[in-house]
Amino acid sequence: MSQTKKATAVAPSNIAFVKYWGARDLERVVPENPSVSMTLSTCVSRCTVEHLPGETGEHEIRWRPGTGAGLETPPPAFSERIRAHLDRLRDHFDCGGRFRLATENSFPAAAGLASSASGFSAVTLAVTGALGREVDGAERSDLARRSGSGSASRSVFGGYVRWPGDGLTGHTGDDSTCPAVQILPASHWNLRDVIALVESGPKEVSSLDGHRRARTSRHFEARLTHLPRRFDAVCRALEARDFEAFGREVEAEAIELHTIAMTSEPPIYYWKPATVAVLEAVRHLRRAGMPAWSTMDAGANVHVICEPESEDAVAERLAEVPGVVQVIRDGVGDGPKTFTDPASDEHLF
Ligand code: DP6
Repeated sequence: MSQTKKATAVAPSNIAFVKYWGARDLERVVPENPSVSMTLSTCVSRCTVEHLPGETGEHEIRWRPGTGAGLETPPPAFSERIRAHLDRLRDHFDCGGRFRLATENSFPAAAGLASSASGFSAVTLAVTGALGREVDGAERSDLARRSGSGSASRSVFGGYVRWPGDGLTGHTGDDSTCPAVQILPASHWNLRDVIALVESGPKEVSSLDGHRRARTSRHFEARLTHLPRRFDAVCRALEARDFEAFGREVEAEAIELHTIAMTSEPPIYYWKPATVAVLEAVRHLRRAGMPAWSTMDAGANVHVICEPESEDAVAERLAEVPGVVQVIRDGVGDGPKTFTDPASDEHLF
């Protein structure tokens, strides 16, 4: 087997400031609204893929719990989703054969830390690398999106990323593409993400079900009406590095996502008592003059966004909140990396 048939990709998770919640076309992963996120650097998925060109049969998929994992077995439906994505990529590249794949996370999977975003971005990049294909950013992003994890389309870029990259019109056809685009590099603003982990197991309701139910909330239409203004405000604040304007919108946005979830039919309650305690601790920090703002994805954990000078104090405070099991320090990063060094991940197989 030639050495170029194997590659390893390390792809980070991302935290959305304006969230993807609800889809125009869930099957084709076309969102109702544009989202904008920051790609992280510490919370990553590492995936090695080997292409076996002459072979037929099932792909081999290995899951490694990884250093920070809370799951000893893959999240529900994980293997089926990976398998389907490998089939999709094989069709796209028309390469035949089958794949051996091993993947692990540096953080707890399926607990609202966007493990699908990093995971599917890593799988997409590792397959592309193993096949030795030249693929531009837009195609990589679009391929990652087709995994079914819309947020994965953002994780193929570093820094600050919007998805879709252009407007939302014309994205519902059979052959539609809908890639993300980097709007600002990581070097633009060193924002930190101090994550208060209050649960490390899988969440009860997947984002997929959340997207499905979003329209059943009577607040959803109102959200769509004012979201363009919020999206612009967040992008402008990022551009201007205006932390106060940025934080105010981002925290309100996260509360709104959870309001939609809690008022969906049937309702989705992601918060735990410790979630509320962390939100309160962050408000107290602000009152005490420490600029920090909260955001949450579809889970109970809270991402506290701050600037580097506040990071130590924020992390210390969050660790004291009852119910916080771990504090993870992360921040904006440069995006994924792909290696074709044959020895880079022997241990995974
Ligand atoms: C709340 O459909 O991308 O994180 O496949 O579980 O990663 P996963 O979810 P996806 O929805 C993401 C929902 C969100 C908001 C966001 O990241 O934009």
